[in-house]
Amino acid sequence: MFDCAGFDDHEKTVFVNDKPSGLKAVIAIHSTALGAAAGGCRLWNYQTSQAALTDALRLSRGMSYKNAFAELPFGGGKAVILGPISSENRQRAFEAFGEAVHSLGGLYVTAEDVGVSVKDMEWVASKTPYVSGLAAKKGAAGGDPSPFTARGVLRGMEAAVKNKLDRDNLEGLAVAVQGLGGVGGHLCRLLSKAGASLVVADIDKAKVEKICDETGARAMSPEEVLFADVDVISPCALGGVITQENAHRIQTKIVAGGANNQLADAQAGDLLHQKGILYAPDYIINAGGIIMVAAEYQGDNDFEKVTAKVDAVKGRVTAVVDRAQRAGAPTYMIADMMAQEIIDNAARAGNSAKAQPAA
Ligand code: NAI
Repeated sequence: MFDCAGFDDHEKTVFVNDKPSGLKAVIAIHSTALGAAAGGCRLWNYQTSQAALTDALRLSRGMSYKNAFAELPFGGGKAVILGPISSENRQRAFEAFGEAVHSLGGLYVTAEDVGVSVKDMEWVASKTPYVSGLAAKKGAAGGDPSPFTARGVLRGMEAAVKNKLDRDNLEGLAVAVQGLGGVGGHLCRLLSKAGASLVVADIDKAKVEKICDETGARAMSPEEVLFADVDVISPCALGGVITQENAHRIQTKIVAGGANNQLADAQAGDLLHQKGILYAPDYIINAGGIIMVAAEYQGDNDFEKVTAKVDAVKGRVTAVVDRAQRAGAPTYMIADMMAQEIIDNAARAGNSAKAQPAA
């Protein structure tokens, strides 16, 4: 555990094995310096349990940085459930997951991530109050965070386009989107509305057809879409898609997507920097969802207010890109440094606290 890939001084990691439901999960708590560790729960069919652990560790570190940067009073955590879970066991498995979250007594607050729905979170909520992303009430933000994430990505993309292409909007630009799920699908609709033309890909053909029908997008293969000859690429599927091996094939000047951990490693980020490609750091540009989830959890989720908070992503992307350019350093490096500074300051001040149950 202490030597495995992705370990970064995590405070606690919990392995859950619930025989009756077949639930196998990892809950990783990276830091509670800023408050309870908040971050979604992912359900994925991992090749090995080691891969699941690494994913939980990397994603939870990303959540510490994401929450710090978004100025939320939460630390970073993440859960992964090792799929598949059969449909007849699904409710029991998420209830067992809820019990596991509850056993941490408020140290970790969960919500949706890839493969997990609002319905799943409602089963979790039957066992613990340390959960958000539940059904939205009228006039309030809540439920599925992905539309808010997509909105933040759009704003971050606008900031990147202003910096790199000196354009005030996205009209007439070509954007390639990989992954057309909650985040990617909503993003395509927003981009199309903003006048961008789209090249899209997903391993699920039905999703590709739907987005092409709705937006007039052109379909491409999932393996090639990030190397398309467009203005912006937007990875919105899984992580690790930009590697030392493939970075040289990227033709755009901007990478601005919603996926967590888009860079396979730091060297991939260095290569983008050397090629003059602006990389909008994942955890800054995709913070819209957690901003909404936190607002819902704290009971301060008036729709307009939350939307304005999500729009602040634009200014944060601008700030980090400006600072990186002044320093002549890669954006990911400057972002990590700034986020770590916020966390270290909080740790020194001793602010660490367990979550209060949802308001
Ligand atoms: P989702 O499960 O709704 O969608 C993911 C999509 O990616 C699916 O349509 C899937 O078929 C597709 N996909 C998987 N592998 C692919 C590949 N190799 N090539 C092309 N498409 C592929 O998940 P969601 O919620 O849209 O999340 C997408 C990414 O954004 C994830 O990395 C997630 O961690 C990140 N994220 C999501 C947030 C949210 O609010 N849902 C918040 C912040 C980050």
